[in-house]
Amino acid sequence: MRLAGKVAVITGGASGMGKATVMRFLAEGAAVVVADYNAQTGEQTVVEATTAGYGAKCVFIRTDVSNEADVEAMLDLAISRFGQLDIVFNNAGVGGAIGPMTETTVEAWDYTMDVLAKSVFLGMKHAARRMKKQGAGGSIINTASIAGLSGDAGPMVYSAAKAAVISLSKSGAVELGPDRIRVNAICPGFIATPLADGGNPERARERFARSQPWPEHGSGEHIAGAALFLATDDSRFVTGEHIIVDGGLTAAGPELSKKYPKSSARDAKISGITKGSTGEKPEVRRW
Ligand SMILES: NC(=O)c1ccc[n+]([C@@H]2O[C@H](COP(=O)([O-])OP(=O)(O)OC[C@H]3O[C@@H](n4cnc5c(N)ncnc54)[C@H](O)[C@@H]3O)[C@@H](O)[C@H]2O)c1
Repeated sequence: MRLAGKVAVITGGASGMGKATVMRFLAEGAAVVVADYNAQTGEQTVVEATTAGYGAKCVFIRTDVSNEADVEAMLDLAISRFGQLDIVFNNAGVGGAIGPMTETTVEAWDYTMDVLAKSVFLGMKHAARRMKKQGAGGSIINTASIAGLSGDAGPMVYSAAKAAVISLSKSGAVELGPDRIRVNAICPGFIATPLADGGNPERARERFARSQPWPEHGSGEHIAGAALFLATDDSRFVTGEHIIVDGGLTAAGPELSKKYPKSSARDAKISGITKGSTGEKPEVRRW
C-alpha cells in the first residue's frame, strides 16, 4: 500500500484516466476526493469505489475546475473530510476549440484555456496555500499532453493550453521546491478514454494500438501508474518534470524511415559505415 495515510484530490476523476487513478490510489491506501463537472458519472464513480470496498475513503464533489471558489471547495473537502491534503492531480479536461485558426472564436479560445490552463493555475495556487500551511510538503501532478510538445498532435488552442501546463509545472516546482512541494506534469499520448474515442471505444482501441511503436493502445491505467510514481516518495527528487507516457510515439519523431522506406537500411537489410563527403567509399555489407 504505497499511499497509506495519504489524501488525494483528483479532478476529472469521474472518467478516463482520472477515474483509473482514483481506483488505483484507493487500492494503494489513499483517501480520494473525486472532483468533476459531471455529477452523474461522479456519483457513479463513488458507487463503484464503494462496491470495491473503498466507500469510506471516497467522496465526490461537483466542481468546475475553471471556477476559483469551486477549486477551493474541493481542496477544503479533502481537509474537512479526511484531515489533510497530500496529493492534487489537476487532470480534468476537454478537447475544447476545434477547427482552423481562422475560424476559432475568442469564446472557444477562452473556454479551452479556462478549463485546461487556468484550472491548473488555480489548482496549484490553492493546493500550495494549504500544503504550505500544513508544512508537510506534497505532490501536485498536472495532466498536460504530447499535444503541448509540437504543432501537430492536437487542436491549436488545446496544444497551447497543454504547453502552458508544462510551463506552469516548471514554475510551480521552482517556487514550491523549498517547501518540499513537488510539481510535475504527465504528457499522455493516445489514451483510449471517452474524451479520445469519438464515441466508438472499440474502433479507438484498435486504431490507438497502431498509433505508436508499443503494440497496445494506451489506457487510463497507464497514466494512473505514472501518477502513482509521482505521488509517492519514490519520485521525491523529481520535480518540474514532464513525463511522457505515450508508448514511444514522440520518441519515433518524424518517422522518415516510413516516409522514405528505400532509404531505410533496416528494410534494405544492409549495414555498415557511410563516410559523407570525405571522398572515402562507404563500407556496406548485406545481412
Ligand atoms: N485521452 C487522451 O488521449 C489524452 C491525451 C493527452 C492528454 N489528455 C488529457 O487527459 C486529461 C483527462 O482526459 P481523459 O482522456 O481521461 O478524458 P475523459 O473525458 O474521460 O475525462 C475527463 C473528465 O474531466 C471532466 N471535466 C471536463 N471539464 C471539466 C471542468 N470544467 N471541471 C471539472 N471537470 C471537468 C469531465 O467531466 C470528465 O469526467 C485531460 O486533461 C485531457 O486533456 C488526454
